[in-house]
Amino acid sequence: MSVLFEPVRIGGLDIKNRFIRSAAYYALSDIDGFIGGASVDLMRTLAEGGVGLIMTGAAFVHENGQGGPDMNGIQDDAHIPGYQKMTGAVHEAGGRIAMQIVHSGMASRMIARSGGDYMAVSLVENMPDYGVQPREMNEDDIEGVIEAFGQAGRRVEEAGFDGVQIHGSHGSLISQFLSPTTNRRNDKWGGPLENRMRFVIEVVRSINKHVKEDFPVMIKLGARDYLEENGGLISEEGAEVGKALEEAGISLIEVSHGFQDDSYRKKFLGITAPEKEAYYLSDARVVRAATSGPLSLVGGLRSLPVMEEVVKSGVADCISICRPLIREPGLIKRWMAGDTRPAEIKRCIFIVVSLKKLKVRNKKCQCFSNQLGSVISR
Ligand SMILES: Cc1cc2nc3c(=O)[nH]c(=O)nc-3n(C[C@H](O)[C@H](O)[C@H](O)COP(=O)(O)O)c2cc1C
Repeated sequence: MSVLFEPVRIGGLDIKNRFIRSAAYYALSDIDGFIGGASVDLMRTLAEGGVGLIMTGAAFVHENGQGGPDMNGIQDDAHIPGYQKMTGAVHEAGGRIAMQIVHSGMASRMIARSGGDYMAVSLVENMPDYGVQPREMNEDDIEGVIEAFGQAGRRVEEAGFDGVQIHGSHGSLISQFLSPTTNRRNDKWGGPLENRMRFVIEVVRSINKHVKEDFPVMIKLGARDYLEENGGLISEEGAEVGKALEEAGISLIEVSHGFQDDSYRKKFLGITAPEKEAYYLSDARVVRAATSGPLSLVGGLRSLPVMEEVVKSGVADCISICRPLIREPGLIKRWMAGDTRPAEIKRCIFIVVSLKKLKVRNKKCQCFSNQLGSVISR
């Protein structure tokens, strides 16, 4: 049997194989972030498909960190009963599920557009253009968001999840603190890496204060920025952050990117051959060398031999996949049954987050999203 189908332990959590469904925002929640039956069904379907651990779509921890109008929320205790249905359904299907939690900072499109309290780590020239300027976070704002992450962690545990994953990648608030391109602060939260990583370390400590000792606290870490023009965070810095996170009690690091420009789009959309898969392998190697706990690799993984090599070579312990499971939620079961053809995404050409828009976008494209939103392939 392939090593990929062997069980693995993450903190206090045993998962039945090495496959993780990487977080996917699926645009099914209401304006306040409440989930409904469709989200529960989606998670149940993924569990039935055999993946070892599911990461939910990102849920905002504070109302001023909401990215989109249809994003999951965990900013209030009122969300707990809804998520209990989700965790119950996944456990009944024999699966494991962790919630990804986020603050979007300057990427809080929803807050900016609705006239809410729109905040950024620093006021910089490469701010998203939502028609309004954010204000720079002050000490109270920063402490408030750190506490909000802690409270969100408590709710995640109370809702019956098997763990929590901090979204520390893809330009989220944590990426914004880590990256020198967006963090220009002169106080203890900015400047040298030691200061830029203070926020994420405090977030981990805050969650650990609010959950039981063995509750897995994981992170999707933007280990480096992919910016052709002005550098940003480099993988050696990402590895140092990973090491400090482990010391603070993180149970699993999923290696991904921080900020990215068009060069990333080529990698993300152009997975046409096995050698284009695993496009963050070299970053994961750098993180691996600095850390000792479990790592997962995400980014373009499609075929079993490539995934096996990642695990066997010791670069990562788990394999995270997202788009293949949007296209084919039963993929892991298919592989276990002996049909080992790669994930069937011929060419991913776009991502959308609303099926309503997707239907009118291009009739020639075939939509491979189950339930709602996502990848179009042709
Ligand atoms: C529709 C969609 C939604 C996503 N939402 C999230 C998210 O909420 N949080 C996150 O960390 N990554 C998100 N991602 C990124 C994926 O988790 C993953 O890192 C990326 O798609 C690369 O992996 P893949 O090649 O296996 O798809 C999303 C990706 C897609 C396609």
